[in-house]
Amino acid sequence: MDRGAAQPDVLMNHVFSFLVDHVSIGIHVVDRTGKTVIYNRKMSEIESMPIEEVLHKNMTQLFAFSQEQESTLLLALSEGKTTTDVKQSYFNKHGKQITTVNSTYPLYDNGEIIGAIEIATDVTQLEKVKSENAKTKEPKRHTFQDIVGESPAIKETIEIARRAARTSSSILIIGETGTGKEMFAQSIHYESERAAKPFLSQNCAALPEHLVEGILFGTKRGAFTGAVDRPGLFELADGGTLFLDELDSLSLTLQAKLLRVIQEKTVRRIGDTKDQRFDVRLLATISMDPIEAIASYLLRKDLYYRLGVVNLFIPPLRERAEDIPVLLQHFIGVYNQLFGMKVTGMEESLLQQLLGYEWPGNVRELQHVVEGAMNLIVHETLISAKHIPAHVKRHAQRVGGREQRDIPDRAAQPTSVLAEIRSSYQQHEREQMEEVLRKTGYHITRAAELLGMSRQSLQYRMKKYGIEKKK
Ligand SMILES: Nc1ncnc2c1ncn2[C@@H]1O[C@H](COP(=O)(O)OP(=O)(O)OP(=O)(O)O)[C@@H](O)[C@H]1O
Ligand SMILES: [Mg+2]
Repeated sequence: MDRGAAQPDVLMNHVFSFLVDHVSIGIHVVDRTGKTVIYNRKMSEIESMPIEEVLHKNMTQLFAFSQEQESTLLLALSEGKTTTDVKQSYFNKHGKQITTVNSTYPLYDNGEIIGAIEIATDVTQLEKVKSENAKTKEPKRHTFQDIVGESPAIKETIEIARRAARTSSSILIIGETGTGKEMFAQSIHYESERAAKPFLSQNCAALPEHLVEGILFGTKRGAFTGAVDRPGLFELADGGTLFLDELDSLSLTLQAKLLRVIQEKTVRRIGDTKDQRFDVRLLATISMDPIEAIASYLLRKDLYYRLGVVNLFIPPLRERAEDIPVLLQHFIGVYNQLFGMKVTGMEESLLQQLLGYEWPGNVRELQHVVEGAMNLIVHETLISAKHIPAHVKRHAQRVGGREQRDIPDRAAQPTSVLAEIRSSYQQHEREQMEEVLRKTGYHITRAAELLGMSRQSLQYRMKKYGIEKKK
């Protein structure tokens, strides 16, 4: 008997089935009726479906797609549509959610569709791994290179922060939620001489008062029931930077203790009798104007003067609309990479709407809007209105009439003693600023010097009070 070479097509058939079974991409082929003719092992793994449950069955019996997401295989069959590299999420028969990046092609014979093939890479696992990594790895260290923005306002802020990074002065970072305060703080640290030493961050609002004290200054064993010998953040951050987030939520008593520690550059653990020297740079944040915080008894004036050697105002996103398109594009790029997608941008009309949106959550909100949109995208390459949350669209349409928003209404009746004090304080501040500006002929640098504030801080307040530069 001839034991020589097998027939070429027999060999090819074996090679073919071997490959189909051993490649690490999922392959699913349906005929023109939607019946599965090939369903390889990898695909079965990705979708957690036994091969025999899928083979020879019709697509529609097997998978439940959400309304937004039609099966790309069915689209290839019915419309001859090719889709490449799109992220798909669906539930298999057992209710397990599957996320894949798929490419689907119609198969033609003599110009007629005879079936469709889908090639898939599993990202369900990949995404799990990524989010696991995100949990276990230390948080990303931000540097100035990561701060995206082209507006003069953000560029000036970066410039001021960069200059401050060369010194060891304390900095008070002022900005609304989500404007990037922590990003700036990290950038300053990692560009400073202290970069190799610790950057420790403590949110002052996250802990009850009696715990904050021990955490900041440390405790000595026996100081109170259950107290152990433990260094505080000042000791732990020695040589590096201590970032105190939401400083205004510390009680005024604790602020006084903090001030003493900073002035004396020594710290004493609770219950201890001896002091320890430390060398720590302090960066603190506050989300409202410090002058207002002082007027509202949320911030001690003396601490402000000691800490706010440099005031870094991070402007809200609505005041630097030029940054909106750049940030949108930036985050589209970030999520393309993370999700394995190829979204190229956003529909022009939507972009126009978003330029008029207030962004109360600032850059963080914008980032979430992009992430949410990318999760809804199936085949499209542009983000459009249907991918954007309704409340954003509703508010985005109401453009105009917001310039005066921040300026206190002089005619309004103060509703509390606090509000009364605040408004008289503001009025006083405003008058003083106007006077100095008039005297200096609206020379910002000189006026700021006389008022004992930075140029940026003066400009911030001029904008807030609606003071126009008059010649
Ligand atoms: N200019 C920017 N470029 C790129 N990403 C930014 C920028 N500003 C902020 N972000 C991103 O927005 C998110 C919020 O930033 P961050 O945490 O620094 O803000 P925050 O001011 O500390 O907010 P909060 O007051 O809520 O603590 C982060 O994911 C950050 O990476
Ligand atoms: Mg923060």
